[in-house]
Amino acid sequence: MKGVVDKPIARPVTPLGILAQELEALVQALDKETLPAQIKQKLRNASLLALGLDPYLEQCTTSESAALAALADKTAREHWSNRFEGGETVVALEQEMLSGHIEGQALKMFIHMTKAKRVLEIGMFTGYSALAMAEALPVDGKLIACEVDPYTAEFGKAAFRESPHGDKIQVEIGPARETLDKLAAEGDSFDFVFIDADKAGYVEYFNTLLDKNLLAPSGFICVDNTLLQGQPYLSEASRTANGQAIAEFNHTVATDERVEQVLLPVRDGLTIIRRL
Ligand SMILES: C[S@@+](CC[C@H](N)C(=O)[O-])C[C@H]1O[C@@H](n2cnc3c(N)ncnc32)[C@H](O)[C@@H]1O
Repeated sequence: MKGVVDKPIARPVTPLGILAQELEALVQALDKETLPAQIKQKLRNASLLALGLDPYLEQCTTSESAALAALADKTAREHWSNRFEGGETVVALEQEMLSGHIEGQALKMFIHMTKAKRVLEIGMFTGYSALAMAEALPVDGKLIACEVDPYTAEFGKAAFRESPHGDKIQVEIGPARETLDKLAAEGDSFDFVFIDADKAGYVEYFNTLLDKNLLAPSGFICVDNTLLQGQPYLSEASRTANGQAIAEFNHTVATDERVEQVLLPVRDGLTIIRRL
């Protein structure tokens, strides 16, 4: 079938994944060199520490549902670059965008912990995080998911139809800015918001949520990729546009007196924000 491939191996997109890859390359390169055995052993130890963490987190975390596992598998088999080049998707998409098992389970836990009933997601992709959060919502809970790319939105909707929790999700196709304005004009508000879309838009999404009261008074905002592969704390000169956008977003949040926040090193960085 066009666009579908054997499951390709995902490239590392987190600080830990990149660190593990770099250390493994060093172990292999230096193995052939004449170095004190102690140095080689220390390097191997460092590599094993980094390589072993993600599999151990997977092992110690509750398994994802069958619907989430099937969605992750289907997303990994899709040939996203062909879709983009063929003009079927409007944004350059890749399987690595999917949040996955650990982050999905963390988001589910946050929904349970906050007892959220109304959730807003900015950046749905194929719907993994939306479905994970919907699984934790009560039967009368509602999740509105914003996605600019129609192909991806339909991909997600097909997966939602396969889940008993899918009918809690309403997909809004279009630029998130427009959807947020529409929701604010309708006087809507949310107990929990997950921001995971274009990094250049993060500061505006954050300010709109607070300025237009889309965030309920005791609500939480959770923001993905706030470590952006380590770029915000590495050399400014080596930052990509997304790395720079995240560095600016993190600074904006850290200096905004309306909120308090914590940056957790989950996957590519997850910041949790609450209004003071
Ligand atoms: C990192 S992915 C989201 C991953 C998803 N939350 C998950 O966990 O699987 C980012 C998504 O945001 C979407 N996006 C980018 N810019 C957008 C915008 N301006 N408005 C709405 N969605 C946008 C992209 O099309 C992409 O599907």
